[in-house]
Amino acid sequence: MILMKDIIREGHKTLTTVAKEVVLPLSGADKKTLVDLLEYVKNSQDPEMVEKYGLRPGVGLAAPQINVSKRMFAVHAPDLDNNLYSFAFVNPVITPVGNNIIYLPGGEGCLSVDRITEGLTPRYETIKVEGLAYDQEHDRLSSVSFTVSGYIAIVFQHEYDHLNGILYVSKLFDHLPNAKPAFEYEIAEEETNE
Ligand code: NI
Repeated sequence: MILMKDIIREGHKTLTTVAKEVVLPLSGADKKTLVDLLEYVKNSQDPEMVEKYGLRPGVGLAAPQINVSKRMFAVHAPDLDNNLYSFAFVNPVITPVGNNIIYLPGGEGCLSVDRITEGLTPRYETIKVEGLAYDQEHDRLSSVSFTVSGYIAIVFQHEYDHLNGILYVSKLFDHLPNAKPAFEYEIAEEETNE
């Protein structure tokens, strides 16, 4: 299983390298990577596993983050209507739909970035996601194609950027005048008490 020690951090060359297309049919090693990536994300959302293994919670993890420079990532996260998106993707392609720009209120974070960052990262509000999803149970790849908007679209774009050697820290802005927040955000009381 993937642990925090297996996740490479900001400054490592692989994180700024464009990852290679995965060759099909999937190799045993690539299948294992896909299974491990998705397993990490799920484990990281389980309080017992977090406690036991010192995992940092996440909603996605890309192969380059475990120093495998291939176009694969896992996402396990709900959209704002609570539909779960749980996939291990192979050679995904993301295309913007329209020009609306949104951002994650409070800014993004990344398992490969240990410092606190300030700033907002612009993302397309709506995207089309296409690619192959690996189904471990049946040991097969299936074609997937769907359009998502809002928060979950941000998650996919963050992971997709990893495949192109881009970290969100290179896309931080103090203000995004023409963008809107992905959801309403109330600043917690303790954050305002200074
Ligand atoms: Ni990340």
